[in-house]
This record gives sequence, C-alpha cells and structure tokens, in this order.
Amino acid sequence: MSQTALKVALALVTLSVKDDWEYRLPPGLVDVSERLLLASGSPGYGPRLMRMSKRPWMIRVYQIQDRMVPGQFEGFGHRKIFMQQQVEAAIKQGAGQVLVVGAGFDTLCLRLAPQHSQIQFFEVDHPATSAAKARGIALEGQPANMIQIAADLGKQALSKVLSEDARWQSSVPSVLLAEGLFQYLTDDEVRGLLSDAATCTSPGSRFVFSHAIPGERVLLSFLTRLIAEPWKSAVRSEDLPEYVEGTGWKVISDVDTDSAHGVERYAVSERR
Ligand SMILES: C[S@@+](CC[C@H](N)C(=O)[O-])C[C@H]1O[C@@H](n2cnc3c(N)ncnc32)[C@H](O)[C@@H]1O
Repeated sequence: MSQTALKVALALVTLSVKDDWEYRLPPGLVDVSERLLLASGSPGYGPRLMRMSKRPWMIRVYQIQDRMVPGQFEGFGHRKIFMQQQVEAAIKQGAGQVLVVGAGFDTLCLRLAPQHSQIQFFEVDHPATSAAKARGIALEGQPANMIQIAADLGKQALSKVLSEDARWQSSVPSVLLAEGLFQYLTDDEVRGLLSDAATCTSPGSRFVFSHAIPGERVLLSFLTRLIAEPWKSAVRSEDLPEYVEGTGWKVISDVDTDSAHGVERYAVSERR
C-alpha cells in the first residue's frame, strides 16, 4: 500500500485549514479525501487522526517538513487545482475519457464523474492501494461511469491493462493524468510509460503530469528510501520537450518556473 498516496490526501486535509485554502481547493475534495482515508482501513488513519489533522498546530508540522521538501505542502494544493483545471479544459475541448494513472487517494474521478455522465473515468493504481481505496469508493457510491483498475505498471504495460478492459477506447480523445507519479519511476520508465500510452490514445489526446526537478536533497532521498518509495527521476521543466521527444507526445505547456509548486513542476503534453 502506498504510504505517499495516504500522505498526499492527509496533507490536503491539513492544508484546508490553512489561510484561504478551504476555498481554493476544488469543492468536495477535502471531505471526500477524509472519507476515503477513513475507509481505507490503514493503520492509524482513524477519526482521531482526521481531527488532529485539522488543528492549527498540524500546519506547523508541515511547515517543518517543508524545510526538507521546500514548498511541498502548498504544492499539493496547487497540483490538485492545476490537474482539475486541465481535465475540465480537455473535457470542454472534446475529451471523452479521463484516465488517472497512479491515482492514490485522489478524488477527481469520484467528484467529476457524476457531473459528466457522458465521459468515462478510469483510475489505475497498484493493487494494494487500489483495494484500500475501493472500500471508500463503495461507501461513496461508485459512479456508473467510473472504473477502477488494479495493476502494477512496473509489471504490466498500461496499454495492455487498458486493452484488457473493454471499456477503454483508443480512438476516443482522452486526457491522462499522472500526478506525483513520475518521480517513482526511472527516466526510462517515464518515457516507456509515455510511449506506451501513445499506443492506446488518439491524436489530440492530452497527458498532464507533474515531475520532480533536480536538486540536492539528501534528507528527502533518505526519508523516501526509509518508506521504500524512493524518488528515481527528475527533469528540469526547460528540458521537458527533449525529454518526451520520440514518445509520441509533445509538450504544449509553457516552462513552469513557479516555485510555489515546490520540488515539482507541471506540464501538459499532446498526442501527435
Ligand atoms: C505520491 S502517490 C500520488 C497519488 C495521487 N496521484 C495524488 O497525487 O494524490 C503515487 C501513486 O503512484 C502509484 N504508483 C507508484 N508506482 C506504481 C506502479 N508501478 N504501478 C501502479 N501505480 C504506481 C502509487 O500506488 C501511488 O498511489
């Protein structure tokens, strides 16, 4: 089970009590995150932790953590806002499928699927994390147009996983999201995932992702290794066009120079 997936969702619960973040985060995100965490059955993730996570002193805990991973706390909020804006823009421009890769406890599909009954929403994640989330999805009421697929993408190609699910249609313009995922793959695996995703998506589809930027982070590296989820790849936003070249995708977003995004940057690529 991905500890980092739990941690992202929990950080958002605390972020919602900082400044005006409650109003900046997409509506419903915090409440659904909290319920998914509670239903996950993960040790320690009970009502007490949820109450504690909303106390002002918890903000201070994240601010101390930010000394190791600068900007990460508010970065989670910016990331969620960016991803949702990109999905909504892609839907307006005709995307018929939304696919969240490495979904963790992300709530986007659960929240947007009921609003867009004509769009098919997919989530793919590691079986252990997927199963823990499925308990919460069942309690929320799984939207008819939302599908959860459990797969280890280290072992199975995304295109194969999708082709085994008859509901994915390669010919439909789609928007794919990989949020906080690429840093857990090597550079070759990231490019492999992009190339593979290109084989099951139609031209004009979008792949929206966040990626780590290079930096000296000895402590972060130590901590992520400690929870067995080390960061394996990083790329400068300026270098992205070259990084994705030959994968079937072209970066269409501007270079992301926003330090509010912490140790990550965001990008949008389009299937050519
Ligand atoms: C940091 S979490 C991010 C979760 C979510 N995207 C978010 O931002 O809230 C990374 C996610 O990637 C998933 N992941 C990492 N490696 C994976 C793999 N080989 N196959 C499938 N999922 C993977 C983990 O299970 C986890 O849910």
